[in-house]
Amino acid sequence: MKMISLLLLILSSCLCATFVVNVTQSSYEAEENHSITLEWTFTTRTQGSYRKLFIYCEFRTSVKTRIIYVHRDGVEFPESQDDQFSGRVQSDKDVLREGRIRLHVSRLRTEDSGLYLCDVETEDGFNSGRCRLNVSARRSHSEPKIKPETTNETSLRKLGHVVAFVVVIAVLSSCFLFCKKVKTGEH
Ligand SMILES: *[C@@H]1O[C@H](CO)[C@@H](O)[C@H](O)[C@H]1NC(C)=O
Ligand SMILES: *[C@@H]1O[C@H](CO)[C@@H](O)[C@H](O)[C@H]1NC(C)=O
Ligand SMILES: *[C@@H]1O[C@H](CO)[C@@H](O)[C@H](O)[C@H]1NC(C)=O
Repeated sequence: MKMISLLLLILSSCLCATFVVNVTQSSYEAEENHSITLEWTFTTRTQGSYRKLFIYCEFRTSVKTRIIYVHRDGVEFPESQDDQFSGRVQSDKDVLREGRIRLHVSRLRTEDSGLYLCDVETEDGFNSGRCRLNVSARRSHSEPKIKPETTNETSLRKLGHVVAFVVVIAVLSSCFLFCKKVKTGEH
């Protein structure tokens, strides 16, 4: 039994190895409102093209999964795309023949940050590739820079205010008393 499982394992890993999906870049950095092109490559046939080609790409974060691109045998299915990416993903169908999946995502949002996976299935096998995208918020000049304050700093500042207040009161009251004394002394 063990021998058979081992053989099956070796056989399946050999089968998988014949068809691979790679990413050209494992992680991307972009700014909000900019656009980016994510790219995957998959094994092509040395002769002819695939009769069957199914591509399913999705976006994942720890809390959600969203469909971004579906393609089956030359036909795209934009209706299956999630609203988050609606109208913002363009694919380059011409490069599929070369074994390349190019997804152009425009008007990036910070919530587009996460994992992008593409599953590819052909008559030669199934494989998938993933890459990470990090969309950072755009730092605009008009935006006021708020310096984060630590609680220590805040309480120190509060203490400073209290001390200053007490000093002012003390000075004012001693002035008042002094003036009064001077006035009464005059009389
Ligand atoms: C995938 O990556 C491996 C290792 O870098 C490389 O040998 C192989 O040619 C690549 N295949 C495709 C289809 O990009
Ligand atoms: C994303 O980019 C921002 C700004 O460049 C950086 O501070 C942050 O660490 C990055 N996050 C990840 C998960 O790479
Ligand atoms: C991004 O673009 C939208 C619409 O074009 C605009 O309203 C928004 O202010 C832009 N955001 C940033 C951070 O530039």
